[in-house]
Amino acid sequence: MVRAEQLTNAYEGRRILVTGGLGFLGSNLALALADLGADVTVLDSLAAGCGGDPRNIVGGSGSIRVVVADIACADAAADCLRGCDAVFNLAAEIAHTAHLDAAARDLSLNVQSQLEFLAHCVKYAPGVRVVYTSTRQVYGIPQYLPVDEKHTTQPLDFNGVHKLAASQYHLLLWRMGQLDSVVLNLTNIYGPRIALHLPQQGFLANFLARALRGDGLEVFGDGEQLRDPLYVTDAVRSILHAGAISLGTNRVFNIGNPETHSILDIARLLSKLAGLPEPAIRPFPAELRPIDVGSYATDVRHAEAVLGWRATVSIEEGLANSLRFYGKEVRTELSRARKMTSVDGQELIA
Ligand SMILES: NC(=O)c1ccc[n+]([C@@H]2O[C@H](COP(=O)([O-])OP(=O)(O)OC[C@H]3O[C@@H](n4cnc5c(N)ncnc54)[C@H](O)[C@@H]3O)[C@@H](O)[C@H]2O)c1
Repeated sequence: MVRAEQLTNAYEGRRILVTGGLGFLGSNLALALADLGADVTVLDSLAAGCGGDPRNIVGGSGSIRVVVADIACADAAADCLRGCDAVFNLAAEIAHTAHLDAAARDLSLNVQSQLEFLAHCVKYAPGVRVVYTSTRQVYGIPQYLPVDEKHTTQPLDFNGVHKLAASQYHLLLWRMGQLDSVVLNLTNIYGPRIALHLPQQGFLANFLARALRGDGLEVFGDGEQLRDPLYVTDAVRSILHAGAISLGTNRVFNIGNPETHSILDIARLLSKLAGLPEPAIRPFPAELRPIDVGSYATDVRHAEAVLGWRATVSIEEGLANSLRFYGKEVRTELSRARKMTSVDGQELIA
């Protein structure tokens, strides 16, 4: 396992760019990097309908510079990438939908902007390590469990197709010797700073939002599908390891929790922790059928062996921490604001 001081050595004083750093996972990563002493820049467009929120990076230690722009914007990317030691590329639309209407927007954010951003990386930070966060959704319906990196990719929705395309661009540029890319296929992540107010952020955000409102949880179908949810601090550590370690030809890692639980058991546990009645069982919505992958479990052996990373937070602990974070209204307690500028240098919050 990689020790905490090794991560400090890897990031202290280094110039790091986090795209999508005002979103759920990106903000947790940016805060962790700042705590490790990195010189962090966040590039985020606060895209409508995504989980970005400037309040996500309020508090913590160290300094985080924020540039509000699309990753495709050449001026912003040049400013953020010059002299950069590593890039964590998390900017994305994450909603999964079967609706064809949503495909064009997803294509624009997840493929077109990504391709332009990669061209900026090659131009302004050639050879830089780029960690791209893809998704387990690229595999589609598991042909076997747990799913390893050799599993066929057959996404069930547009988001999965586009995330797979962007992953392939990252890997192509690595094979061409132009970027030091690595792709992480993440399972469902949950925890503080997840966008609870948005639909289509996954069942965990939905469960947490209902629990925090005091509404009973609802489980679709029999709830027997397995999931391996990963608490956000574990996910952040996997990303930090991927940014810091010498990788050779290992370029794709599946990141998840070796512990699996049925969706019904997760709902029962959260209901108990939140003092709510047993979850209600509802018919599986017809519109979700085409994009339902059934049970999923991550084969974490490759990530554990090469990245020296392992999930450490149990589902009980992770759900309790999440309730505590929102229950205490942490956001209003935090006072230290950060400087935030738009791409033309205008101050957005002080
Ligand atoms: N949350 C999960 O469970 C999960 C699971 C698998 C993979 N992932 C991946 O992790 C990454 C982060 O996801 P998240 O849950 O934090 O999502 P999020 O919606 O909370 O954050 C995404 C951020 O990216 C920004 N963004 C989107 N398109 C942009 C663009 N073109 N230019 C600049 N900024 C842009 C948004 O404004 C937002 O702040 C994504 O790549 C996602 O696909 C997340």
